[in-house]
Amino acid sequence: MSRLSAALPDFPWDLLEPAKARAAEHPDGIVDLSVGTPVDPVPPLIRRALADASDSPGYPLTAGTPALRTALSEWFARECGASGRLGVLPTIGSKELVAWLPTLLGLGPADTVVIPSIGYPTYEVGVRLAGARVVRSDSLTSVGPDSSVRLVWLNSPSNPTGKVLPVEHLRKVVAWARERGAVVVSDECYLSLGWETQPVSVLSPEVTGDDYTGVLAVHSLSKRSNLAGYRAGFVGGDPALIAELLAVRKHAGMIVPAPVQAAMIAALGDEEHVVAQRALYAARRDQLRAALTRTGFEISHSEAGLYLWSSRGEDCWKTVEWLAERGILAAPGAFYGPAAEQHVRIALTATDERVAAAVSRL
Ligand SMILES: Cc1ncc(COP(=O)(O)O)c(C=O)c1O
Repeated sequence: MSRLSAALPDFPWDLLEPAKARAAEHPDGIVDLSVGTPVDPVPPLIRRALADASDSPGYPLTAGTPALRTALSEWFARECGASGRLGVLPTIGSKELVAWLPTLLGLGPADTVVIPSIGYPTYEVGVRLAGARVVRSDSLTSVGPDSSVRLVWLNSPSNPTGKVLPVEHLRKVVAWARERGAVVVSDECYLSLGWETQPVSVLSPEVTGDDYTGVLAVHSLSKRSNLAGYRAGFVGGDPALIAELLAVRKHAGMIVPAPVQAAMIAALGDEEHVVAQRALYAARRDQLRAALTRTGFEISHSEAGLYLWSSRGEDCWKTVEWLAERGILAAPGAFYGPAAEQHVRIALTATDERVAAAVSRL
């Protein structure tokens, strides 16, 4: 039996354990800003919907209930400007889809997948699980005439950099991919968190002209609605691609639990909690940004999303150590690609009390 895990990169978070132990020695406790995991409560209306659907003895629908599919379509229309004929599908969080999409689309050793030069590590994991070739690039000109490209991942707003891709760039990538019959998948799980720039979905009519052929947008309720623990993601776009994903996922048992489907409907139908959560992150961002800048950090991009992409102009592990000595844990840029070795990623996902502690230590 071949060991599939051998094809995967080392699990990077283990490398952060020594810095975590150092930060935990701080007399006032660690401020962990290394992981983008929500810390604020799940909004009561979502918890109620989950509880009300807890008597769910039967198997749920892989495609999602009709009510969930309607909620997803309406959300895509409202928040992404999608108005063409759209396929939609719930997923068990979006990490699951990112990791398995190349496999679900039937990619293999003869195929190439383009991923962001600095990006969420699971894009590469998914390519390796499928046994395909990975190319890290933000510029399709540098990819050249490679005819083996089957899939291009975009991530806007970006984890970890907070960079937002402009409409013009999205349009060019879609045109480039369509010429080659490749699929463009845009991971947009931070779409509701634009600070200095309003992020645009790949499904916006400005990008696709309401023709979603070969285009998918991946979304998540983890950050928007504090539902990381529920595992609630979804994907929308090209109806033919969505039908193909559904056909495989039905066989593979990739089904979102029924109570979570009900909770998703409640979350998608309410923007009030999204606005309130945004305000919490905005205040934490302002405080952390000011404190980091005062201490000599340079912040790049970070115009949207849940992170401050920060540098002291030195190797990221040195910066991680510097912060750990002050009881603060950050993620080293090296986790996100070879081009990111002088940055650390500082998450906004800590309570107001912990953010205030970090600010006073800085
Ligand atoms: C860019 C990006 N995509 C996908 C995910 C996965 O999110 P989830 O599986 O919680 O939906 C994350 C989580 O941090 C992320 O940063």
